[in-house]
This record gives sequence, structure tokens and C-alpha cells, in this order.
Amino acid sequence: MTKINRRDYLIGMGAAAGALAAAPGFELLAQEQQPTSESAPTTSTIADRNRRMKWWHEAKFGMFIHWGLYSIVGRHEWVMEMEGIPVKEYEPLADQFKPKPNAARAWAQLARRAGMKYMVMTTKHHEGFCNFDSKLTDYCATKRGPGRDLVREYVNAARAEGLRFGFYYSLMDWHHPDGARCMTDESARRRFVDYIHGQVQELMTNYGQVDILWYDVPWPLDAKGWESEKMNRMVRKLQPDIIINNRSKLPEDFDTPEQRIVASAERPWESCMTLNDSWGYHTADNGWKTPKTVIRNLITCAHDGGNYLLNIGPTGDGSIPLESVKILSAVGDWTRSNGVSFHGADRCQPTRSRFASFSRKGNTLFMHVHYWPGDTVVLGNLLNKVNSVKLLATGQPVKFEQNDWRVRMTGLPRIAPALVTTIALECEGEPKQDHELKRAQKPREGKY
Ligand code: GLC
Repeated sequence: MTKINRRDYLIGMGAAAGALAAAPGFELLAQEQQPTSESAPTTSTIADRNRRMKWWHEAKFGMFIHWGLYSIVGRHEWVMEMEGIPVKEYEPLADQFKPKPNAARAWAQLARRAGMKYMVMTTKHHEGFCNFDSKLTDYCATKRGPGRDLVREYVNAARAEGLRFGFYYSLMDWHHPDGARCMTDESARRRFVDYIHGQVQELMTNYGQVDILWYDVPWPLDAKGWESEKMNRMVRKLQPDIIINNRSKLPEDFDTPEQRIVASAERPWESCMTLNDSWGYHTADNGWKTPKTVIRNLITCAHDGGNYLLNIGPTGDGSIPLESVKILSAVGDWTRSNGVSFHGADRCQPTRSRFASFSRKGNTLFMHVHYWPGDTVVLGNLLNKVNSVKLLATGQPVKFEQNDWRVRMTGLPRIAPALVTTIALECEGEPKQDHELKRAQKPREGKY
């Protein structure tokens, strides 16, 4: 194994982390979190990861889909456990599950319309029902109600829309007889782990190229118990370009903060989030996020070099809840004309405004105004000279004047042109903002 020094490590981390290196406090973090000699990635591992993840870093925005037997019940995907439903009572749902053909087409179309570049669908959630054809169980879509492979329909739908796709797969299983006893009984663990590895192998073999493997809940075993290293080696052998998340109790390729946006300092990350308060369909859950909140979240992820994986929970027949369609269509209206501000964005240093957030590509700073102040928009304490300013959606040039303390953009509409109006500022050098420095420098001309 070639060991590499910290400098090479950072260089090898590629564009996203390169931008991170510029963020304040990064030097310190990098030193504190230097990989240990055992875990230090090799130059070739890093180069390989950068190669595999290039499209994913550029994509920034994906659709999560939670769909299973719980979608018929309509009270959240944890309903089986939350309401203590016995396996015998839950199982018959598998025969009632009769979704309309190719429901996934509408998901993929909506994803594309919303500006998403990839999808991740539950192939098996904690309930244990498999949406794919498995030789290892009868509790699967081909042998029960649907009578066909729902994962194949999903794969075809994603490909038809030119989207990348991934498979969510829950390690925890409330249906398999060994799903809990594997904790204490070695022969049960052996059977269960063989089952899980076997299903992962099926998923990695039967659908051509798979872009992402999205494990979930590794309860009740640890990496050793799951034999995760062996499992993921098998996965990578079958799918050399795949990206694997961090939920098989091994870090693998990316972190998965859930329902919150928290950047990982040195690792790729993707924040997954619901559109209301449930992943699976919930008839009564009306805690919907507004399109503006979704757009702001997407910008926050792009600002910090991460991805945003936003969920829909189709009903039992595969229809997308109307509210989700409305929200994502409105988001699409924004992404269609402002996509360049986040697809392929670099990490961005400026953060401070009381009415806007920021993203960056190269030397262009995108100021995303969510509370429109009127015909003049001001950005304070930028360190760079600004060469030109325009409204991103229309390309319309914006008049501006700049002094040491602020950039004043004038002649803008009095009423907000969009939910979030994005202004593109072409800067000299990488845009940086420093409030404290400017606060100290600014002449105090007030009188006692
Ligand atoms: C949690 C939940 C699960 C959901 C997942 C998405 O782990 O158990 O229901 O699928 O988060 O990240």
C-alpha cells in the first residue's frame, strides 16, 4: 500500500475538498483529523473515488423514493414497528399491493422536471418486503401482489429520463426469522448474513450498471457481524463504478446526515430529507415544506459541497401525493433557470446576508435572495473586485457600484422577480467575504 502524506491527501481529495481547504479553520481540522496510518487512503484509492464520484458531486440534487407495503397503510414506513403489528397480520399486505404499471415513470419525469439528476429507491425497507425479484424469498414483488419486478420498472424509468439511479437497501429486517436472533445465535447470524449478502448480490447483478448503493439501519450487528468488508468488496467487484454510503457500519464513499444539513469536513456528504414529516406515504401528514424552503436547503447543501436527496412517498398504487408534485414542480421552475448556480458548484466561503444565501462556481458568486429588499440589493464586506453583475434567470445585466465596504446593485424590480432571485456576481478571484476585517477597518466618523 502506498502511504501518502497530508498534502497529497488533500490534493487528491479533488475539487470539492480543494475549495474546502480555503474555508477558515480548515487547516486546523485537517491536522487534527489526519488519517491514521492504518486508515490512510492510498493515492490510487483517492483517485478512484474521485473518478467514481465526479458525476455525483456535479449532480447535487436527487430524489429519494420510499415505497413498500407501508405505502398501502399510509401511516409512515415504521408503522409495523410503531404500532406493534405482528408479522402474520402485516404479511397479507403483500397480496394487496397492486400498483399501477410503470408508476416509476412519473417519479422519474418529476425528478427531471425538478432539476434532480439521480434517484434512490427503497428496494427493501425494514418491513422486509422486496420490491425486486429475489430467489432467496417469496416475500417479494414478483411472487406476490404486484406480480412483477418493481425495481426493474424503476431502473427503466430512470434510464428513460437520463437519470442516474441507486438502490436503498435496509440491512435491518423485521420479517426475516433470523433478523433479530442473529444477535445471539451464530447459526442464525450465518443464515441471515448469507441472505443479506445474497440479496445484495442479486441487486448488483440483475440490473446492469447501478450508480449508488444506499444501505440503511445496520441494527443489530456491527461491521464484523455483517461481514461488511466482504460484502462491499463483492459489490465493488460486480459494480466497479458504484458509490456506497456509510450505513453498513463502514465509512465507504459518503456520509448521510438525515433531516438536517451538516457538512462533513473532509468527506463527501449527502443530506437526505423528507418533503413532509414522513418518508413513506402518510395520509394525514400535512407538514409540507414550501418550495422556497426546499430551494434554500438545496443552496445550503451546494454552498457546503454536499448533495441534497429529497424524498417522495408514493401511495400504494404508486401515485405521487399531489402536494409533492406541486412543490417539486415549483422547485423545477426555479432550477430550470438557475441550475448553473448549484449543479457542479464549488464550496463557497461567503455566508453573510440577512436576506440571501450564496453558492459559487469558480469566480462567480451567486447571491440567492429569498427576502427581496426592493430595487436596490446590497452585499457587504466582499473582498473581491466585482467585474459584472446579472440576474441569472434572464441574463439581464444589473447596474452596480462598489467601494471598499459594499456592492450596491441598483435599478432592480421593486417586487421580487422569483421565489428566490439569483444574482450572479463575476468577481476577480475566488469570492471571499470578511465581516470582522471590514468592521475593524471601517472609519468611525461618528461624533461623541
Ligand atoms: C431512517 C429510517 C428510515 C428511512 C431512513 C432514510 O433510518 O429508519 O425509515 O428510510 O432513515 O434515511
